[in-house]
Amino acid sequence: MRRFILYSRTGKTAPFNGSLLEAGRLDVIHQCIISAMFLSHSIRRDVEFHVFLYGSPNPPLHIIIDGSSLYDVRTDEATWNKILNEILSGHPHQGIFMRKEGIENYVETLKKIFVLNEKGKDIKEFERKDLDDASFIIGDQVGLPIKFEKFVRRLGANELSLGKKRYLASSVINIINYSLDRLMV
Ligand SMILES: C[S@@+](CC[C@H](N)C(=O)[O-])C[C@H]1O[C@@H](n2cnc3c(N)ncnc32)[C@H](O)[C@@H]1O
Repeated sequence: MRRFILYSRTGKTAPFNGSLLEAGRLDVIHQCIISAMFLSHSIRRDVEFHVFLYGSPNPPLHIIIDGSSLYDVRTDEATWNKILNEILSGHPHQGIFMRKEGIENYVETLKKIFVLNEKGKDIKEFERKDLDDASFIIGDQVGLPIKFEKFVRRLGANELSLGKKRYLASSVINIINYSLDRLMV
């Protein structure tokens, strides 16, 4: 199982009107969900996507998308505007769950943690067994808070680099999925 964890500093924590962009950059979360969970015409059943929302008015919130049970979803923005609004209103959707929980409490329960950072160890230096069944933590459009980076370092997380260029969070997820797909064959 592959797990992506996104830290959203601004994502709204209540139902919203209007676009995902206006809802604290939930458009970034939509892009990350597509990269994490979708292949062409199928869902990645072995992937979980977690986002921790720290925007107003009710942070933190933890939204979980479980590929093994995800159902009745498409890739377009209107679909995810509706689903995220439903979830934030407390209505369930198959394979998507919400908890009132902060990222530190959740990450503490995990074993193989990688924090994505350009200055970390290059992905090429890791072997399949290192990256199998791992959790990958990624910052949003702003990046990870320094305090949180220190926290995960204390937990013994590995810092993982995809190279010197700074990529969009959704591109980071695509690169990890692609690299691991190639390693796992
Ligand atoms: C759009 S970037 C964040 C940009 C933000 N302005 C900053 O300075 O951190 C989103 C996240 O992608 C990850 N990331 C981007 N490029 C990366 C790279 N080359 N290697 C590893 N992680 C990367 C980091 O976790 C980063 O927080």
